[in-house]
Amino acid sequence: MSESTGAKAWGVEIIGLTYSYPGAAASALSDVTLSLAPGEHLAIVGPNGAGKSTLLLHLNGILEPSAGSLRIGELPVTPGNSPEIRGRVGLVFQDPDDQLFMPTLLEDAAFGPLCQGLPRQEAEARARRALESVGLGHIDARRPAHHLSGGEKRRAALATVLSMDPGVLAFDEPSAELDGRGRRVIAEILRARPQTVVVVTHDVEFAAAVCPRIVLLDGGRLIADRSADATLNDTGLLLEHGLELARWLREGAPRATAPESGTSDRKR
Ligand SMILES: Nc1ncnc2c1ncn2[C@@H]1O[C@H](COP(=O)(O)OP(=O)(O)O)[C@@H](O)[C@H]1O
Ligand SMILES: [Mg+2]
Repeated sequence: MSESTGAKAWGVEIIGLTYSYPGAAASALSDVTLSLAPGEHLAIVGPNGAGKSTLLLHLNGILEPSAGSLRIGELPVTPGNSPEIRGRVGLVFQDPDDQLFMPTLLEDAAFGPLCQGLPRQEAEARARRALESVGLGHIDARRPAHHLSGGEKRRAALATVLSMDPGVLAFDEPSAELDGRGRRVIAEILRARPQTVVVVTHDVEFAAAVCPRIVLLDGGRLIADRSADATLNDTGLLLEHGLELARWLREGAPRATAPESGTSDRKR
């Protein structure tokens, strides 16, 4: 389904995912069950420490569950399936500098396809297409990525993953440290992706701009799974879980109403 090589959009199945970091007293994730249809765009929101990044790191097998399981399409995420899973799930880290480490932008974006075994010419063609698809086609790709602005770097990090044609795109805090325009540009790029998209963020308004469905995670548990509109309009739920809308800076945060017993719903 993607524009360059016809990669698929994969469904994602997460069943009873539990994870504890070695030596940690509490679980970072507890019994999280969640599924995405192929091509669906889902945001996972939650306050700092909710377990959002930990969940993302399970999607392509960087972390192995303490209990529970994941599948990408029909393929279980296991160490044995690791090369195939990493081809299916493109993970964009929160810090673009973790993704951009080659001497030039072109080499950064061609790195993944080269590792997949593609000949250099094709890898570079893919890299250029990926850079174009994130609006960086006009930039001299022989420049190093550290010459880019914050927003451009974030798009370049996305391109290093798109060049591998993943069927699932997982992006950790795509709007972090971006100005208003940078945030809008990246939202528009993500909204238009044909792949399955999982965005992790504490920016609820950004989440709602990119994804029709939002899951709320707090304390490692899945608290709610609803439409973006329903999440944005549930002031009590957002306040209770440490999530604030930018407009509350101006208007003052509403007073939290007593939480209903049903905030832990899993309805869409
Ligand atoms: N490498 C690590 N070692 C130990 N604990 C960690 C590590 N990374 C995260 N944690 C803990 O796991 C929990 C979830 O963290 P994280 O997934 O980073 O949350 P979020 O991305 O929602 O801010 C937090 O309590 C955090 O302190
Ligand atoms: Mg995080």
